[in-house]
Amino acid sequence: MTEATAGRDRPVVLLLSGPNLNLLGEREPDVYGSATLSDHVAVARAQAGQHGLDLEHVQSNHEGDLVEAVHTARGRCAAIVINPGAFTHYAWSIHDALAAFGGPVVEVHLSNPNAREPWRHTSVVAPVASGSITGFGGDGYRLALDDVAALLEDRP
Ligand code: DQA
Repeated sequence: MTEATAGRDRPVVLLLSGPNLNLLGEREPDVYGSATLSDHVAVARAQAGQHGLDLEHVQSNHEGDLVEAVHTARGRCAAIVINPGAFTHYAWSIHDALAAFGGPVVEVHLSNPNAREPWRHTSVVAPVASGSITGFGGDGYRLALDDVAALLEDRP
C-alpha cells in the first residue's frame, strides 16, 4: 500500500509500516487498540501538516519492500518515521538501509515491546534511530512527527 502526497514544495517525511500493521483495528485490539492503520496515518499526516511537512506512507508485509522504500527516500525525503512491526527484532537489512539514509529516523511502536515477551526486547532499528517512542498507542505517531520537526529544525 502506498500513499503519496501531491505537493512536493514541502519537506517529505516517509512513514513506514511493517508486517501485520495493515490488520490494526482487528488484530489483538487489547494490545494494539481499535484504531486502524489509516487512522494512525491520518494523525501522522495532520501533525506533519502542522509542522509544514508532507507525509508519504508505505506499508508492506515484505522486508525487501521496506528496504527499497528506504532506498528511494535517500536524497528525496527529509526524515523517516518507522514502525517496523516484528521486523524490529531481527531485520538487519532494514537496520543497514536506515543507516545509509542520512536523515533523522524515529522508531515508533504502539505497544511497549520491552514490557512484553523477551524476544521483543531487542530492536535492531533503535541503534540507527534518533529516538524511539514506545507504549503510547496511536499518540506515538503524533509525538514522532513533533520530534521529526524538532530534529529537522536543528539541522543546518
Ligand atoms: C509493534 C510491536 C512489535 O513487537 C510487533 O511485532 C508489532 C507491532 C508495535 O507497534 O507495538 O507488529 O511494532
